[in-house]
Amino acid sequence: MHEIRVHDKTFIPYLSQPEIEESIKNLAQKINQDYADKCPLFIAILNGAFMFAAELFKSISIASEISFIKLASYKGTTSSGHVITSIGLDADVKNKHIIILEDIIDTGKTMSRFLPQLYNQQPASLKIAALLHKPEATTHEVPLDYNCFKIPNKFVVGFGLDYNGMGRNIPAVYKLKE
Ligand code: IMP
Ligand code: MG
Repeated sequence: MHEIRVHDKTFIPYLSQPEIEESIKNLAQKINQDYADKCPLFIAILNGAFMFAAELFKSISIASEISFIKLASYKGTTSSGHVITSIGLDADVKNKHIIILEDIIDTGKTMSRFLPQLYNQQPASLKIAALLHKPEATTHEVPLDYNCFKIPNKFVVGFGLDYNGMGRNIPAVYKLKE
């Protein structure tokens, strides 16, 4: 167990790679059962969810599709509050069973802005799966249907999550050292 540096900050180990991978496998199995004959469309939110999405999708064994959309609200270690869509959705959502894949639900703002846009396109159903959830940080309630880990309100990096662009490649989750 050792500390790592990302930019000017020190982070300590929080969730190990095996623990994360096992939790994601279990989640995939649940989805395989729940969506057995629904051919869901996964929509992964870039950038942060790319690693979670890849890990989960490897264990999805039912017929399904995946697409990506780019939303962002963070600068540094706090939410800027503004949600920017910089790559739109190219998939047709109408009458499809949608599962949104997020790296983390923090304030919930990103999702609460994005959900109405999706509902407008009349999906058959809509659920959210997030690797991490910070319940104490929530200011915008989001229906979180699938979640691997609930974590305290601490800034984390790794497994796709960044601190100012860095640290996404770390294959485990580290939290800010205080
Ligand atoms: P929300 O809109 O506040 O729920 O924030 C969601 C987005 O903020 C996530 O998709 C992440 O990209 C980013 N984010 C939230 N908390 C953290 C964190 O602890 N580390 C890195 N990124 C985070
Ligand atoms: Mg992010």
